[in-house]
This record gives sequence, structure tokens and C-alpha cells, in this order.
Amino acid sequence: MDKEVNTPQHIRPNFQNIPFWNPTKILDHEIGKHVHRMDLNECPYPPSPKVIEAMQNVADTLNRYPDGTCPELTPLIAERTGVPAGNITWGGGSTQLLTSIAEISVAPGQNLVAPNLVWKRFDGVFKIVDASVTSVPNNADGSIDVEALTNAIGNDTRLLVCVTPNNPTGMMLNEDEIRHVSENTPENVLLFMDEAYHEFAIHAGGPDALNILKDRKGPWVITRTFSKAYALAGVRLGYAICSSPDTVDAIRMVSSTFNLNGFAEAAAIAAWHDPEYTKFILDKNMEERDRIIAGLREMSYEPMQSVTNFVACDIGRPGMEIVKAMRERGIRIATVGGDDFVNYIRVSMGIPEDTDAFLRELKDVLGRLSTKTII
Ligand SMILES: Cc1ncc(COP(=O)(O)O)c(C=O)c1O
Repeated sequence: MDKEVNTPQHIRPNFQNIPFWNPTKILDHEIGKHVHRMDLNECPYPPSPKVIEAMQNVADTLNRYPDGTCPELTPLIAERTGVPAGNITWGGGSTQLLTSIAEISVAPGQNLVAPNLVWKRFDGVFKIVDASVTSVPNNADGSIDVEALTNAIGNDTRLLVCVTPNNPTGMMLNEDEIRHVSENTPENVLLFMDEAYHEFAIHAGGPDALNILKDRKGPWVITRTFSKAYALAGVRLGYAICSSPDTVDAIRMVSSTFNLNGFAEAAAIAAWHDPEYTKFILDKNMEERDRIIAGLREMSYEPMQSVTNFVACDIGRPGMEIVKAMRERGIRIATVGGDDFVNYIRVSMGIPEDTDAFLRELKDVLGRLSTKTII
């Protein structure tokens, strides 16, 4: 039968023929084996013991629906950021908020502007809202070209997407670049800054985008997450800091009624109150990042300037080839995507043993590839 006949009529055209990709899938050869998970930018350390205790303490309330406004956690964020509690809302991971933000601002066929090289999930988000996307090439070094980005805004643009630090490059925007985006995005366009790696940027001495966006006249929204620096990826909790409460209301409208789980708020409060543990995570991450960068340089590669918990690097041959070979050896890393970056790999920071295994096996894989005797 030809493809036309098979086209499912019950699915909107923009959702057809999109194969499901399961990022956490365990392959047959990995079952029962130790796998170095260095592909999903996770925190390699377990949550703080205080978090685990707090989760145990709320376990007997799980028969009830949780309050998705996080009434005890929101004031803590408000106090730290200086943003009113009414301007903050929550998602099941910041991933959920990305979709909500696009949904509230861009109607089907309307325009949004985004850098070409950003987190792959954005492609899915743009499909969901059926937007007309202006994809702006990144600079040759992978960084976001902020001038090109704001120059691409047209009369029908509703949303500008920016990510700092960016995934998959790990690079952050500097203060001037954030200010440029803030000041050159018109007042009728929602400026969306994804800051999933915010804590890593601050730890590296980078700017706080919020302090700059606060001065913006037009609407803006910043998303952050408890998945990375707070070691809570499995809890699924992210938040949006918005320029006004009407954005919060609109995001809540498009979120499902009970979109958070019953552990999330208690876990996040405990993590928030344990800054020593977060510092431990950020310090350890930096140590391993330095080791990975040094190791790659020793092999004569020059990684991108990452401030995050992952490093991207031009490896001089198709990244997918290396990803597959490394996976055979129990080391999961990722490609970078984007036509100009096919020769790149991205590796997430793990514990010291993960770094050792990554550098050892990469050297071996590349050595064998260069003599074409890879196994
Ligand atoms: C740039 C970026 N934004 C958002 C997320 C989503 O994180 P979460 O849904 O766990 O908050 C990720 C995850 O890797 C990311 O890399």
C-alpha cells in the first residue's frame, strides 16, 4: 500500500510520521550492565539526603491532588529573585513550560524566531504549535548570534526564543548580548529565555538574565529547573518567571489541571534549603568538566566553551559514528545536531569514574577508527 493511503486521518498533519524517540531506552546489550549515562545532562549524584527525607514525609499524602501553584515554594523563589509570587508558575519539568509558552503566544501559522542550534526538544514544540519558524544560524563557533536573531524579527513575529547557557553548546550569552536581545525585541513580542542551566552559569561567574530582563518594557518569561543543579530530574519540576501575572494565568490555562506530582514541592523546598549540597554538585561538575576539557585537548581536540554540565566537541568525523561506538562500550554520549555540527559529540559530566571511562574509551575508539579497525 502506498504511503498516502496509510496516512492516519485522525492525527493532525503536523504530528504525522514522527517516530517516537525514547531518550532513556536501555538497549539489549546494556541490560544488567553498568552504563555510564553521559548523554542526558543529568546530575550524576543522588538528591540530597534532606530531599529524600522530605519526600518520605509527604508520601502518605499522595492520595490527594497536589497544589500546582506550589504555595510554599513560590514565596522562596519570589524572595530570592525579587519577582512577585504572582509572576511565577510551575511545570512538570521546564520541558512542559516550553510548550505552554509557545502555545500561549503563537497561533498556528504565526511566526516565531529561534536560533538554529538549540535543544532538540524545541523542534517538537514548534511542531506542536504549528508555527512558521524563522531559524537563525548560530555563529561559526556555535554561539548564538544575537544580532541576527533580533534582526530576524518581523511584523508577524509573536515569540523570540533564546537559550542561555545553550544546549547543546554549553555556551552562555554575556551581559551585553542579553541586553541586546532584551532591548531589540519589540514590545509586542514575547521574549522567552530558557535558563535550564542558570545555576551553572552563575557558578561560572556569568550574568543573571533576570536582572537584565526586569528592565525590559515588553513581555518576557524565563524558565528554570530543579532537574540539573538540584539533582531532581526524576521529580519533574521547573518554573517560569514571568513579566506579568497574565502570562502566568495563560500558562496555567494550557497546563493540565494537576500537572505536578505530589512529591515535587516538598522535594524542591528541601533542595532549596540545602545550598551546601547544590554547591557540592556545582563544584564537582566543574572539576569533571575541567578534566574532560583537558583530556580532549590532550587528544588535540578543542571543545566548545562550556559553562554547563556537558561539553560539546568537534571530533573531526561524524559524531553519530562515535556515539554508536561508545555506546557499544557502555558509554552513552550524544550528537549535537545541526547541519554545521555533524562532526560534534556532546558529553554530560558524570562522577570521576565516568570521566575516566569516557576519555579512555574515546581515545581507543578514535585510534581504531583512524586505522579503520573499529570493533
Ligand atoms: C536547554 C534545556 N531546557 C530545558 C530542559 C528541560 O529540563 P527539565 O524538563 O528537566 O526541566 C533541558 C533538558 O535537558 C535543556 O537542556
